Amino acid sequence: MDVKDQFRRWNKKDSGVGEMSKMISASILSADFSCLGEEIKKAETAGVDWLHIDVMDGVFVPNISIGLPVIDSMRKVTKLFFDVHLMIVEPERYISYFRQAGANLITVHFESTKDVKVAIAEVKKSGAKVGVSLKPETPFEEIEPLLQELDLVLFMGVEPGFGGQRFNPNVITKIKTARAVIDKRGLKTLIEVDGGVNEETIPNLSKAGVDVFVAGSYIFSNPKGVAYAISKLRDLI
Ligand code: DX5
Ligand code: ZN
Repeated sequence: MDVKDQFRRWNKKDSGVGEMSKMISASILSADFSCLGEEIKKAETAGVDWLHIDVMDGVFVPNISIGLPVIDSMRKVTKLFFDVHLMIVEPERYISYFRQAGANLITVHFESTKDVKVAIAEVKKSGAKVGVSLKPETPFEEIEPLLQELDLVLFMGVEPGFGGQRFNPNVITKIKTARAVIDKRGLKTLIEVDGGVNEETIPNLSKAGVDVFVAGSYIFSNPKGVAYAISKLRDLI
């Protein structure tokens, strides 16, 4: 599915979140970077909906991953929707550059910026879809008043920084609360979950009301392969 189709789905008139089909976003953090183009093609051929791109600065999180030139190169080999997850301090400084590199959705961390409203405005100005992410311990109520401004809210199921961690089950309660609030207010804000998503955790997350499931190690380190992993997750949502 190309970017235009994705936007059509986002923009489809009267499509409440409940009617929108659930999506899988493959996190390339666990891909083999020595052949990133091939890894992307595998996920694309297997029918993944989005590519999730984790940007880490070694300050907001204790790890450093990839940045603008890599996203720029990725954009040349695929038309998939780029779901860019910024784990960097002062994200507002870089948003226009991530958009230029090819981001379709830019998600900033609530905890990474002095004024999340400024970061949200920057993303909107860039023309990208806008998301805000919460660490496992950050209460949902922090962003509740801003929900109508957001295309997506991202719930971290693990402490951001590394792939392959176990999902924190306490996060399920926050997701259920968010689902209820979004539905009650009739909003179209999507709920995304990231960290520890696999065949064991995904059924409950789906029941709790998640729309977009990010999976890294389950997809790219799966002994049965990328295509198997994506179709297995799809069967379970
Ligand atoms: C962690 C990243 C995740 C990570 C998820 O900070 O935001 O996107 O790739 O990895 P898994 O799916 O292995 O938990
Ligand atoms: Zn992520």
